[in-house]
Amino acid sequence: MKFLKYGSKLKLAVAVLVGGLSACAIQPTAFNYATPDQPNDPVGYQEKPGWATQGFAVAAANPLATDAGYQVLMAGGSAIDAAIAVQMVLTLVEPQSSGIGGGAFVLHHDGKKVEAYDGREAAPSAATDKLFLDAQGKPLPFIDGVVSGLSVGVPGTLSVLEMAHKEHGKLPWATLMQPAIQLAEQGFKLSPHLHRGLQAEAYLMKDPVAASYFYDAQGKPHPVGYVLKNPELAAIFRDIAVRGSQALKQGPVAEALVQKVRQHPTRPGSMTLQDLANYKAKKREPLCFDHAVQTTGKNFQLCGFPPPSSGTLAIGQMLGILNNTSAGKMPLEQGLPSSDWLHFYTEAARLAFADRGQFVGDPDFVQAPGGDWKTMLHPTYLKQRSSLIGSQSMKVAQPGNPAGTKTAYAPMPSQEEYGTSHISVIDRDGNAVAMTTTIEAVFGSRLMVNSGQGRHGGFLLNNELTDFSFAPTDAKGLPIANRVEGGKRPRSSMSPTLVFEKDSGKLKMTGGSPGGAVIIHYTGKLLIGTLQWGLNTQQTINLPNFSSLNGPTILEEKRFPESTVKALQGKGHDVRETPLPSGLQAIEVTPTGFFGGADPRREGVVMGPKP
Ligand code: GLY
Repeated sequence: MKFLKYGSKLKLAVAVLVGGLSACAIQPTAFNYATPDQPNDPVGYQEKPGWATQGFAVAAANPLATDAGYQVLMAGGSAIDAAIAVQMVLTLVEPQSSGIGGGAFVLHHDGKKVEAYDGREAAPSAATDKLFLDAQGKPLPFIDGVVSGLSVGVPGTLSVLEMAHKEHGKLPWATLMQPAIQLAEQGFKLSPHLHRGLQAEAYLMKDPVAASYFYDAQGKPHPVGYVLKNPELAAIFRDIAVRGSQALKQGPVAEALVQKVRQHPTRPGSMTLQDLANYKAKKREPLCFDHAVQTTGKNFQLCGFPPPSSGTLAIGQMLGILNNTSAGKMPLEQGLPSSDWLHFYTEAARLAFADRGQFVGDPDFVQAPGGDWKTMLHPTYLKQRSSLIGSQSMKVAQPGNPAGTKTAYAPMPSQEEYGTSHISVIDRDGNAVAMTTTIEAVFGSRLMVNSGQGRHGGFLLNNELTDFSFAPTDAKGLPIANRVEGGKRPRSSMSPTLVFEKDSGKLKMTGGSPGGAVIIHYTGKLLIGTLQWGLNTQQTINLPNFSSLNGPTILEEKRFPESTVKALQGKGHDVRETPLPSGLQAIEVTPTGFFGGADPRREGVVMGPKP
């Protein structure tokens, strides 16, 4: 691949000598960020080889972002250092998915313990559960909520990275801004994925800052390969290099951000400078559970994010329910999930999504069933839930009663979720990061912040608050757990995951995906493919996608034979075939190093020293 030739154009950035690191054969070098040759990858499903590496590995959704992480790791940077450099470059080159205007969950393993850093956006303090209701008290049309100042949550990405860097960083914070500064100033080639997003986009043009950045004078999106410079963002990165997360809490950029939200022409939000200043990343107890794989007899511990994410809870419920059925022992049939297996899987998904809608919300505002989220993963409860699966689809599952006590909440109706990006890293000391990061919808709230100092470009603001329920209560007035409240963090589906061998405690894999609520199924597929079906990360990622959000059975279009669709319909499934564009990135530990996989449906690549 042309992109993998790099290192020719050395540009002096910041030289940081790093010594005395591990006994890894590849010795750290000084950090001199070199702008790589820039890819011009084609659009659409592109087969990827999977990448064997040794020493370390980094996987991200865009080759320029992966490369920034690679160069940081080459210079002896830690996994979190690499993730920071990757995130800054993603803000520039994959602005539609994640960035400093959004939020993120960072899962970190230092060889001994797992830590969960929560950088989820928060509702402004003045927000109420009427945020997304119209004058008649009815929920707004979903897109009207998204494309507005109402949807913008207080960003958390910089705060959470800063927190994790203080505890696990090796290279100076400022050094990690260098790749993004250089690319923003020199320009980067607009990727096919970004171009396709712009072509499909109907609202971004209404924001004058975004319009002049992403589109030409005739209102057409810049073409693939167009060299896009973002001097405003470069200046912001320079400020972040010095002031860290304060750069978005106080000063001209913070003021411009608040003004953008509060002066939205149709639906202004309530965010204040005080909301920005008050934001704090939080450390949470990671959610870990045991998983016995019936096809191999091997035992694993899976760790992921607790609420406000619903991801790991739902994945744990699905795996636990499936292990109580014959699906836990089923192999692939002719290289594909069989209709029998898909029946069990999507039924387990219905049950898990029913519980997700009923119970999960920000744990600082919402009581876990029985006071502990793990009641939802209790083996007795999951066995009882699995007994609801019959030979015909239940179509729509009802929530259960994990703690045996009456819940105070009403189920949240299904809502759209999109967007997001995933980063996986393992460094030369064996530290691992699984980080899922988002501005929610593709291009977020479609608001681009520019500090108004005459520079071109900026960064996009999230619409994360539309991950809250628009309706605060059910028809009887019973509150919904995930309703809007001031200072609350919206429920997420992001599922950054670390897998460990149960007996040895050794790291086996780091992975995750974008994809809104379907993140849960993409990550579920990654775990089942690698642990149950014995595939490597790339083979698993290549498998067709499947899902149910407690409604129809959704299959990736043109990837399953007609016989599978017919067999599922025979079991009463309402089968829909759609694109299901996952963006999985995963790295597994092998006897000789690492093997990384990146999703053929998007532009991601994995990099690391070749064995
Ligand atoms: N906005 C995607 C998620 O948090 O699930």
